[in-house]
Amino acid sequence: MPDNSNESPATGAASQLAAQLDEQLASFKSDLESATDEAGLYDLQVRYLGKKGSVSLLRRQMGKLSPDEKKLFGQRFNAIKGELEAGLEARRAELDAIAREAELARRVDLSAVLRGPEVGTLHPITRTWRRLEEIFGALGFDVADGPHVESADYNFDRLNILPGHPARDMQDTFFVRDREGRGGEETGLVLRTHTSPVQVRTMLGQKPPIRIIAPGTVFRRDDDATHSPMFHQIEGLYVDEGVTMADLKATLYRFVGEFFGDALALRFRPSYFPFVEPGAEFDVECVFCKKDRDAGRSASCSVCKGSGWIELGGSGMVHPAVFEACGLDPERYTGWAFGFGIDRMAMLRYGVPHLRIFFEGDLRFLEQYPC
Ligand code: DAH
Repeated sequence: MPDNSNESPATGAASQLAAQLDEQLASFKSDLESATDEAGLYDLQVRYLGKKGSVSLLRRQMGKLSPDEKKLFGQRFNAIKGELEAGLEARRAELDAIAREAELARRVDLSAVLRGPEVGTLHPITRTWRRLEEIFGALGFDVADGPHVESADYNFDRLNILPGHPARDMQDTFFVRDREGRGGEETGLVLRTHTSPVQVRTMLGQKPPIRIIAPGTVFRRDDDATHSPMFHQIEGLYVDEGVTMADLKATLYRFVGEFFGDALALRFRPSYFPFVEPGAEFDVECVFCKKDRDAGRSASCSVCKGSGWIELGGSGMVHPAVFEACGLDPERYTGWAFGFGIDRMAMLRYGVPHLRIFFEGDLRFLEQYPC
């Protein structure tokens, strides 16, 4: 049994200090439990082991102990300090593991179905335009192009529509001002009123055989419920030796068959255009009431208004004066030309009742024609 009878005061201090160390250890352990992150652990480290930490302060009291007690206390102190440090380290590892687990368990929901990018569609006019190019391309026609701002010379004069000629009044023309502000007839520039000047450009630029179509935008000072100041036409031109009107009819016949998907009759009505002679307007049998007519029923068709025919455009044999104005010998070459509205073809193709709808840019209309 240990002899405690003559305990010195120093011995009392030693056991008191030792008890305090144990207390610190106990309180540290419970604090450690509730530390949940790195900041909490650091705080504990400072509070217990920092320079002014509770455990470090106990060590400073060692001075009042006897050498033997000092040794004993020192060992005890080091053991406890080690325990604290190991505790902090273990808790840190534990918190790291918990954090890693949480990270691994984290789920990102990648299953959301994203809406694809919104894809636009081609305008019904563009699609009609391209279909026309396709059909005439298959018939051996190249696509030719010309500017919107055109010389009055090409738009009128070389097409045999001479100054003062009443045909110039037939087309309400936009004249273009120049930089000096001059306008009207002085500048000699217009917004082309038809695609026919592309005939001139083509004949001036190449020798026959010429076989072109020229789809494009044209402009006239027409602006009401059934007219737009900007619309679209397609021109056709075939020039070579020995070209006849029979070729014209055969070509148009093939074209309407392809476009409307049916063998439709075609008819010419004599008409006047200064750049052709003879000139004719051409009509196609109405595709919308053909079935009724074939079955002997009377047609009350809103598209052809019961006539059974739909007007398409103008055509004719190229006038010798036009050949001359374009540097081709009218004794050697013959040719035909035609021109008609693309917008009207689009109306027929897509069952659109009003021309103006095409140009209003209303998505509720356009979205009905997905490509
Ligand atoms: N350029 C004429 C117009 O806009 C249409 C036309 C008629 C074109 C007869 C032609 C043609 O090539 O031969 O009214």
